Amino acid sequence: MAVDGTPGGEGRSTLTLFARGITKSFDGKFANEDVDLELRGGEIHALLGENGAGKTTLISVLCGQYKADSGVVEIDGEVHHFSSPRDALRAGIGVVHQDLRQITRFSVIENVVLGSDHGVSRTAERKVEEIGKGLGFELDPKANVGSLSVGERQQLEIIKLLYRGSRILILDEPTAVLAPEQSAQLFDALRRLAGEGKAIVFVSHRLREVTDAADRVTVLRHGKVVAKRPVEGADPAELATLMVGDDAEPPLTVSPGKAGDPVLVLREARCGSGRRALTGVDLTVHRGEIVGVAGVSGNGQVELAEVAAGMRKLDRGHREDHAEQIAFIPEDRLATGLVGSMSIEDNLAFRRYDRGPMSTPLFLRRSKIRGWANELIERFAVPTNRPQLNVAALSGGGLQRVIIAREISESPDLLIASQPTRGLDVVSAGGVRKQIVAARDAGAGCLVVSEDLDELLHLSDRIVVMLGGQIVASLERGEADRATLGRRMTGVGETGVAA
Ligand SMILES: Nc1ncnc2c1ncn2[C@@H]1O[C@H](COP(=O)(O)OP(=O)(O)OP(=O)(O)O)[C@@H](O)[C@H]1O
Ligand SMILES: [Mg+2]
Repeated sequence: MAVDGTPGGEGRSTLTLFARGITKSFDGKFANEDVDLELRGGEIHALLGENGAGKTTLISVLCGQYKADSGVVEIDGEVHHFSSPRDALRAGIGVVHQDLRQITRFSVIENVVLGSDHGVSRTAERKVEEIGKGLGFELDPKANVGSLSVGERQQLEIIKLLYRGSRILILDEPTAVLAPEQSAQLFDALRRLAGEGKAIVFVSHRLREVTDAADRVTVLRHGKVVAKRPVEGADPAELATLMVGDDAEPPLTVSPGKAGDPVLVLREARCGSGRRALTGVDLTVHRGEIVGVAGVSGNGQVELAEVAAGMRKLDRGHREDHAEQIAFIPEDRLATGLVGSMSIEDNLAFRRYDRGPMSTPLFLRRSKIRGWANELIERFAVPTNRPQLNVAALSGGGLQRVIIAREISESPDLLIASQPTRGLDVVSAGGVRKQIVAARDAGAGCLVVSEDLDELLHLSDRIVVMLGGQIVASLERGEADRATLGRRMTGVGETGVAA
């Protein structure tokens, strides 16, 4: 059977979905230009591209949220015109958005049936359990959504779509919010769904994950398709080149830092309970050094970052800092870091509103704000030429850059960054790492929490490993490698060291 999916060719009718010539522009600028996407039942398809390349826009068109300027969507050879996500869902296209749109005070089952044709019933409950079990999920249908982890909420979203009969499942950066072990579980489930003949699309900036999990890729650059190919035989570096074309920069070389005076000291620091706890942390961060924090997620890294930033009180122990300016890039920055109703420039200048040249007692000085915003846009390559637009007009990676630019630009003495390059493409991730190193070289003490071991190994002057709310290892640059870190993270080795 021909399954090559060539437009107009033999295999055309075998395509589950064929989006043809999709064009969509905003303010006269193409976000998608003549984009073709071909999906086959049974495949896992990765959609790649730099921040702002047009991935989310394409997905929004496919799911009926945006109306394309031109182009058509065919499902099983039949042309569809969606005027709402409901239409697309009815035609079998289900999308898991990056920001999960759920009602947290409802239960799992209530969220699933909400908006479907049936109410909550024993039958519905059984069906939800069955779908979940088939995918290896352990979700209690009666659990309150507010009590679920992000990973579980994502599972709920997938179940919801399957419950409504989706055959084409599209996930926008599903792993950006997941720890590596949760991602593995997700891909397991996606593989099972593909095995049942469903077509799966996912967006990811983690190229290693793409080569591991996907069958084929479509690569967007500046709104156009620049490559489509099977994943077999491709390595992450090749995919990166396809994404960025000639823009590729040589990898950043990080010279060792020069550790100076202590800027943050934690002694026997304790707070929280259960999995969200510090159970006695000793840590000193000096000026001019980057301390990386490794660990399997949920071992106290989030709490450590919050305590280090002074955002969370200790129950016992001691914290002191010698910093005038502390910058904090939180893990859930999209939820907490931006004001969605404000413009890009106001979000950038936000921290300065209360002082300095940006404001006078009675009014904000618009031109100063604009000047400062433009400087940051330039330095941090925030992808916009209209800073007066609402921040919501930025792509996911664009939003990240706004927050990171705002925090790092304050010349901090102490910089705490949690998962600083999550959701960023290879080029932007390199840019952010460079800024962290620059902050260090300007004398800041930096604490960087990351699940990306390669990133930690690359950046850190020293890496501490967290397990069970404690630091169980402290390794100098050169002593640490993936295998050693992996062993310490899982508890093979000594415990309770002072760092
Ligand atoms: N509602 C909108 N109004 C104006 N411009 C928009 C809007 N949505 C997207 N854009 C622009 O369209 C382009 C593509 O954005 P899109 O969100 O599709 O990128 P993306 O590939 O998903 O990027 P990321 O990896 O950062 O999420 C960007 O330049 C973005 O600023
Ligand atoms: Mg996006």
